[in-house]
Amino acid sequence: MVIPWKDDFTPLLLHKNFKEESLMNKDMTFFDKYADNWDTTRKENPEKINYLLQLASIPTGAHVLDVGSGTGILLPYLHKIIGPSGTITAVDFSDNMLKKSQCKFGHLPNVNFFLGNILQISLQKNFYNVAICLNVFPHFGNHKEDFIKQIYSILPSMGSLIIMHDISRATVNGVHRNCNEIKNHMLPPVNMTAHMLSQAGYKIATATENNTMYFIKGIKNQY
Ligand SMILES: C[S@@+](CC[C@H](N)C(=O)[O-])C[C@H]1O[C@@H](n2cnc3c(N)ncnc32)[C@H](O)[C@@H]1O
Repeated sequence: MVIPWKDDFTPLLLHKNFKEESLMNKDMTFFDKYADNWDTTRKENPEKINYLLQLASIPTGAHVLDVGSGTGILLPYLHKIIGPSGTITAVDFSDNMLKKSQCKFGHLPNVNFFLGNILQISLQKNFYNVAICLNVFPHFGNHKEDFIKQIYSILPSMGSLIIMHDISRATVNGVHRNCNEIKNHMLPPVNMTAHMLSQAGYKIATATENNTMYFIKGIKNQY
């Protein structure tokens, strides 16, 4: 069966310098290495995920882009929320992470998996109502604003970008600082991320962080 929205990706050729390319490749290798142990070392707390998704308030029937979906932690939760009329596209640039999530959730009929760097792929415009990233934003490094703008360019009016973490910013940054390969992957204070979103044209619906979580939702303005 051909899933109609499956063919909507086309590679976008962006000029990237060699250094950037090799940094990205290093990141892919890093996450490939962690795929097998991710679910045990970074076991999710369902209560926390449900709480974050409550804040996200994703409607039934939504078309959701799960950016940096990893081993698919969010997929069963999102699947329940969107129901049979919605779709989820799980994107990750780590082959091992994506394979793991496909193994676990490939049976879900309205979930699509795509291997690629979110900063380099071209996504169908005006299709996704929600782009969500759990525990991913710091990994965009110096390209956080590019990511925010890219998502803005494909969202329909009133579509939203949700950036969330199920641990505090201090914990995220502490863990990354202690890991040589990703020591520069920092999560900015939520008000700074809110500023980036506002600058790109989003209206901030919620921006909050505390010692257990980090959550921001920006909505593409209606013009
Ligand atoms: C810390 S893991 C989080 C995975 C999952 N969202 C979770 O919370 O368990 C970050 C994920 O983002 C992916 N990732 C990082 N940068 C990416 C990019 N530019 N494009 C696509 N995936 C990316 C990594 O491969 C990894 O699977």
